[in-house]
Amino acid sequence: MKKAPQELTVRTEKMVYGGQALARADRFVVFVDDALPNETVRVRLYKKKKQFAFGRAIEILEPAPERIPSDCPWTGDCGGCTFRHCAYPAQLRFKKEVLVESLHGVAGAQELVRDVVPAEQTQDYRNKMVFSFGATMEGELRLGLHRRGSFMHILPADGCWLQSAGSREIVRRVLALAKQLNVPAFHEIKKTPGLRTLTIREARGTNQRMVELVATTAYPGLAEHLLAILEDLADVIYFSIDTNIYGSARPEQRSVLKGSGHIEETLNGLRFRIGPDTFFQSNTAQAEKLFARLRELATLPGRPGVALDLFAGTGPIALHLAAVADRVVAVESWEPSVLAARENLALNDVQNVDVLAADVNAALPEGLPDKIDLVVVDPPRPGLSPEAIAWIAAREPGAILYVSCNPATLARDLKLFLQAPYRIEAVEPFDLFPHTFHLETLVLLRRTS
Ligand SMILES: C[S@@+](CC[C@H](N)C(=O)[O-])C[C@H]1O[C@@H](n2cnc3c(N)ncnc32)[C@H](O)[C@@H]1O
Repeated sequence: MKKAPQELTVRTEKMVYGGQALARADRFVVFVDDALPNETVRVRLYKKKKQFAFGRAIEILEPAPERIPSDCPWTGDCGGCTFRHCAYPAQLRFKKEVLVESLHGVAGAQELVRDVVPAEQTQDYRNKMVFSFGATMEGELRLGLHRRGSFMHILPADGCWLQSAGSREIVRRVLALAKQLNVPAFHEIKKTPGLRTLTIREARGTNQRMVELVATTAYPGLAEHLLAILEDLADVIYFSIDTNIYGSARPEQRSVLKGSGHIEETLNGLRFRIGPDTFFQSNTAQAEKLFARLRELATLPGRPGVALDLFAGTGPIALHLAAVADRVVAVESWEPSVLAARENLALNDVQNVDVLAADVNAALPEGLPDKIDLVVVDPPRPGLSPEAIAWIAAREPGAILYVSCNPATLARDLKLFLQAPYRIEAVEPFDLFPHTFHLETLVLLRRTS
């Protein structure tokens, strides 16, 4: 007989990175989903280890003052948001506390942590959303976001507050079309053919919109109908085929049904060309604040001669630095982003930036200038390799700016930079992802000898 899930009542203490509240039951630690600090909650455990467990709050016995009614019916189930039941100022406070705690043991860091720079727009702020197709147990087609922790279950997203009203309308129309034409969802386990994803990208600086519908195969009339129903809502429309059924969607055949195939976004007056595969910061307004501040810190105490932009993506940081440094070298390992970065340089008529294709984490990339004044790093969640930290420190740049999306790997890497030796001069968090636990942090390090 299947064992009933264990339930217990706990008092929560604080938030941890990942969006759970930490509670203790004797000396046992429980990470509780959907709870806030200082709440008494009934928890149902879903994963148990020797000294800790993961559970979900199923009843809030004593709510925290920061708890508010959620404006989304899927709160707690959806993998998109973790904080919809928490007042926005408290979300920022909790994020700052998590960052401060993560920096424990990093000399001089905790006391420098500033308040999180808030987002003015906390709804409809994402410029890119990827929705997936699936079906209910009864076989009804769905288009939306994944249930938390599930790659099969899809929750409706026609009311999702992370993107715009226009985007929600596109979700409604595309779902209605698929139902009308009787086109099924691709089945992740049985691998039966069907629709996979709908990606909507919205350039906030130009109001241009790109839509891509991805299926494992073509269906008669689908592309024509797609164009007809989205004509008034999208500047660029793709219908794409992806037969790579054993991994995440990676279309190998794309048909442009409308437009040039690209949209253009702006950041602090700079222009960026965005294609269906282009990585781009997903919160335009907050990315503008982050990069404007980065550019300001880059000029302290004076204009840098040579600056490196490592993990450059499509070049937004290099383009911001181009205005304040004599020369910028951007380094990026993913070929499509390297090409996109070069296109963006041309689009902005910028002459003092070079883009190198190289793996920053492996070894010192070839072709770097001997004397480097400033290094900016913006790595993905795993952070920097010790090799990368070693070669950066060996070039002895006067300053390093670290843009981090993961406080844990940030703390680990800062400890190595401190030994190089650098000291920390600023720690400034930015909220690019309201209602989620994610946080971007900008750190300024200065060489001490
Ligand atoms: C967090 S994104 C930042 C991109 C860019 N700075 C921006 O703001 O749009 C990290 C980038 O690092 C690139 N990347 C990941 N690992 C890398 C490596 N080992 N060497 C060079 N680039 C890498 C990714 O392709 C991605 O473009």
